[in-house]
Amino acid sequence: MKLDRKLKVAVLGATGMVGQRFLTLLEEHPWFEVSVLAASPRSAGKTYEEAVGGRWKLETPMPGRYQAMQVRNVNEVDAISQQVDFCFSAVDMTKEEIRGLEEAYARRETPVVSNNSAHRWTPDVPMVIPEINPQHFEIIRDQRKRLGTRRGFIAVKPNCSIQSYAPVLAAWKEFEPYEVIATTYQAISGAGKNFSDWPEMKSNIIPYIGGEEEKSEKEPLKLYGRIEHGEIVPALTPKISCQCIRVPVLDGHTAAVFVKLRKKTDRETLIRALEEYAGLPQRLELPSAPKQFIRYLREENRPQVREDVNLENGMGISVGRLREDSVYDWKFVGLSHNTVRGAAGGAVLCAETLTALSYIEPKEAGR
Ligand SMILES: NC(=O)c1ccc[n+]([C@@H]2O[C@H](COP(=O)([O-])OP(=O)(O)OC[C@H]3O[C@@H](n4cnc5c(N)ncnc54)[C@H](OP(=O)(O)O)[C@@H]3O)[C@@H](O)[C@H]2O)c1
Repeated sequence: MKLDRKLKVAVLGATGMVGQRFLTLLEEHPWFEVSVLAASPRSAGKTYEEAVGGRWKLETPMPGRYQAMQVRNVNEVDAISQQVDFCFSAVDMTKEEIRGLEEAYARRETPVVSNNSAHRWTPDVPMVIPEINPQHFEIIRDQRKRLGTRRGFIAVKPNCSIQSYAPVLAAWKEFEPYEVIATTYQAISGAGKNFSDWPEMKSNIIPYIGGEEEKSEKEPLKLYGRIEHGEIVPALTPKISCQCIRVPVLDGHTAAVFVKLRKKTDRETLIRALEEYAGLPQRLELPSAPKQFIRYLREENRPQVREDVNLENGMGISVGRLREDSVYDWKFVGLSHNTVRGAAGGAVLCAETLTALSYIEPKEAGR
């Protein structure tokens, strides 16, 4: 796809861990350029380098082009909206504040593509993994009616924890998964932390992540749902039960999953369904789309975080150890990058899909 000019973007929450990931992913982006960095009033007025201080959390250095940019207050909605075509949101505020902030941008005709959970269950807000349910973006028409906007809307991506198994269940849709048990082993960057600011996580496991189990059980059902009377109605199956465990890993959420399928099949057919599963991002060859969304690894000791988390620049899902189970039908292990596919990268792919489908356009396009 050829754009007349790059779309101007604000990153709300630019100083945080997901914000930092956004900036590195967007540094050389062919369609989007970051023109506003925004964070809390504490950071506003400082250069990005000063505002982040010692809080730069990625292994790659802070990109030079952002260091001297002045950070804005996310609450300057009018002024920021005038400068950008759309924004990415990854702010740590109360859910009520986030809902208000994101709606304020949408009402100022500035589309919001969000990492936050605040709007995931708003019935006319699409929650999308672009390979799985890009058709849910059609609900934006109804949302715009509610908001009274021409071009403003909110779209969200789902929680990082589900990305290691929800794509697998989607790839096996024709075999009708109906009961799923998953245990996730989640990296500390999912809490916005690394080992220097969370030393208690060294050699440790914490069997609790607030709110995560409910998200892991319910969010896939919204992805697999359908649009009806201006709302997304979640699917009723599969029933998912999940335990979420924090483990001493920096990046990469692993899931150990058991699944029952109504339609019986064999292992090679299931592996082929994973390897052949592709969606709109692959067909449109979007800039951040992995060439192969799900890769199956046949070695007995894979996927491993250190070996496999960066598959397809962190946008691919690795799956292995598929075998028959004596209680459930099948079991497998999945792995995804939680701050790339599970956060900033997933949101960038949503924005690319929205741009390709003309939901996001340059402001002068006059919608
Ligand atoms: N980490 C992940 O893997 C992940 C995955 C999916 C979703 N998320 C979600 O994404 C959001 C950000 O996560 P994170 O890990 O990047 O958090 P974080 O590192 O704590 O960053 C939070 C960001 O929000 C800003 N902020 C904090 N309080 C604010 C306020 N009162 N008003 C305006 N801005 C404020 C911070 O600005 P200052 O620097 O100025 O304080 C910072 O830019 C959270 O909602 C989180 O649940 C995270």
